[in-house]
Amino acid sequence: MNAEIQTQEHLSDAHSEASFRTSLPSHLALRTSHFRSSRLAQLTFGNGKHVDFPIVFAPMAGLSHVAFRQVVRSYLPAGVSALLFTEMLSTRLLPDEDVGHTPQTQVAPGEEDLIPQLLGNDEGLIEKSLEKLQAIRPAGIDINMGCPVSKVLKHNWGVALMGDIGYAEKVVRQTRRLTALPLSVKMRTGLTDDPEYLVDFARMLQEAGADWITLHPRIQAHHRKGSAKWSYIARVREAVRIPVVGNGDIQESEDVLRMQDATGCDGVMVARASTARPWIFWQVGESLGLPPPAGREGERAPRTPAEEGREYCRALNHFCDELEQRFLAEQQLPRLRLFLAWGHKWLFFGHYLSTRVNRCTDLPAARKVIDTFFAESKTIQPRTSLQ
Ligand SMILES: Cc1cc2nc3c(=O)[nH]c(=O)nc-3n(C[C@H](O)[C@H](O)[C@H](O)COP(=O)(O)O)c2cc1C
Repeated sequence: MNAEIQTQEHLSDAHSEASFRTSLPSHLALRTSHFRSSRLAQLTFGNGKHVDFPIVFAPMAGLSHVAFRQVVRSYLPAGVSALLFTEMLSTRLLPDEDVGHTPQTQVAPGEEDLIPQLLGNDEGLIEKSLEKLQAIRPAGIDINMGCPVSKVLKHNWGVALMGDIGYAEKVVRQTRRLTALPLSVKMRTGLTDDPEYLVDFARMLQEAGADWITLHPRIQAHHRKGSAKWSYIARVREAVRIPVVGNGDIQESEDVLRMQDATGCDGVMVARASTARPWIFWQVGESLGLPPPAGREGERAPRTPAEEGREYCRALNHFCDELEQRFLAEQQLPRLRLFLAWGHKWLFFGHYLSTRVNRCTDLPAARKVIDTFFAESKTIQPRTSLQ
């Protein structure tokens, strides 16, 4: 066991979690070779490809749709092979859906790196959902064992599955039998803060046939409050043979590399921060010596608050273009509002923008508000309070 991780085995309370974060090595050397030897890079996905980029785009209900994914894609270093999740998809709805053409399942041409995330526990519905999902040629399949909201828990979906290890095992074994695609589980710490149970649960997932795990180390009751306990990512990574992707509280590109250093994780999943700086994919790529995104040749990734402010205006306009192109008029504004509800937290005067856009009645009106707001230059802060 690596010494850094060994010390972290004993960290559990909030205080030691804080010192865990601040005592990390300050050097951020290139990690391209690290990633090639990562367990995640060894898996063959449905598109026949191997992943060669360390950031995974997270599932976010109402956000990880085709329009946002297109924005994220525009910031991927040219030529890399990454993984992008869909938003969570209900196995109660998928069997009757025109998969590939609903707002939650539509895809852009060439999207062969998608991980659709299933919400459910019923074998028959999972089977039908998997059949339907073939229409979008997934790279892999994920089972949601992290959603903490009560209307999901009452059906024994999401993180509720972590409360019953035997039942969760059955769901994974059944799904394993139903698909040859790489199968993952996105999980939390669980219903309670019990790292030993968490490790047992992760080992169970491995034995039941999961090919990889994403861990968001918070308990159900914390939703997204407080700090994610990165030390638990290190513990789980040590305890299993399969790849472990870490998730939680990534705000800046340095955090991605810091999480890898601190936990030994095989990849890093980014959710909320991608609504504020989707170019975090470019920034990390640049730190790893990878080329700029297609169409941005010869440019450097935005880094200063002013550069990021300018880029946010550009990304927001790109997002609106994609919404117009891919969604019906009445579907556009709710998606822009949700995008800004998270992204505005990093943007100087972002609350003002978000409030003004919330008052608009359609996307063209919101675009005028955006134009006026960015007529004067704005900045993006490196970090914000995520509470
Ligand atoms: C608006 C929103 C919707 C989310 N929806 C999902 C979801 O559908 N499935 C899921 O597994 N996690 C979902 N999450 C959780 C994120 O994937 C991620 O685990 C969490 O936000 C912590 O990562 P972060 O600190 O990078 O934001 C959602 C988060 C947000 C903010």
